[in-house]
Amino acid sequence: MGFDAFNWSKNKISLLVDKISLIKNDNLVLAPGEIWSLKKSLALDYYIEGSVNLFKKYFNNWYYVDTHCGSGLIGFSDGILKGERFPGSPLIAALRALDSEFTEYLFFDNDSNAIDALQTRLNSLRPQIGIHNFQIRKSEFADSISAIEHKKKFGDAFLVFIDPVGFIEIRWMLMERLLKVEKADIFFTFMTHALARHRTNASPGSKYAESLDDFYGDSSWNQKSNGDELLQLYIDKIKHHRKYVLTIPVFQTGERKLYDIIIATDSKGANNIVADATEVMRVTDTEVIKSALAVATNKMDNITKWM
Ligand SMILES: C[S@@+](CC[C@H](N)C(=O)[O-])C[C@H]1O[C@@H](n2cnc3c(N)ncnc32)[C@H](O)[C@@H]1O
Repeated sequence: MGFDAFNWSKNKISLLVDKISLIKNDNLVLAPGEIWSLKKSLALDYYIEGSVNLFKKYFNNWYYVDTHCGSGLIGFSDGILKGERFPGSPLIAALRALDSEFTEYLFFDNDSNAIDALQTRLNSLRPQIGIHNFQIRKSEFADSISAIEHKKKFGDAFLVFIDPVGFIEIRWMLMERLLKVEKADIFFTFMTHALARHRTNASPGSKYAESLDDFYGDSSWNQKSNGDELLQLYIDKIKHHRKYVLTIPVFQTGERKLYDIIIATDSKGANNIVADATEVMRVTDTEVIKSALAVATNKMDNITKWM
């Protein structure tokens, strides 16, 4: 029998929704509830479970670093899912800490409201999560890269989750510094759709052209015209530093792709986990996730696709 994406995601989502019930109505700042964002959280959860097992085998310390952690909670404000909440990346990592613990968690964001909300939520969730080494700090992306460089020592590994709003601060100069940290696996939300739109406005000398130069570290993007070509160019650049680079596409709905999660690693074992995750996520599309969340939160009691 084939893989049942609906049941798989419904079970995962039910567990996660249940674990955050204590903070569901805490009235603190939320990330906008966009159903496709759940794919990032589910893919991260899948990857953490597998990769921590590998880190444990081969390393002395392994760190989870979230450079754009946000407040920890995604909130839905309208439609059938109104009032529902889902954990964002830092809580996904924290909620896994009982079975897949990292030596230390570095949660960074440049918004102090988000950082304060995350701190409060981690405190409130202590009964679910337990006590772990959480470092929560207001930090610009560039400073977070310096913090990783500072921290690394022989025998250490990192899982670095980079989930920006756009792409402006992710200058190649910084990404390359991160890629030079040898044992850092990268999980990066590549804004395929936004980059393609940006590219169409990038006439020579414009601010659009300048930000693409910064993002790619050169003007090679000039030879590319659509989102998938721009994505491939970025993958090719990462491949100078990592053996395995895979992508998980995230669609707003149907075939309308918004971004691609790029996962880069030097480990064959981690690559196998990503390959499995890619397969699972390919069939777990936005419509399936929306139905699964609606059923998991008792907003719907059968499998009806309405998107
Ligand atoms: C897409 S949200 C992150 C969502 C989070 N990963 C999750 O799964 O819930 C992007 C975050 O980046 C933060 N941010 C924006 N610019 C930044 C920068 N230059 N450095 C660090 N964080 C930044 C925002 O405050 C926001 O919380």
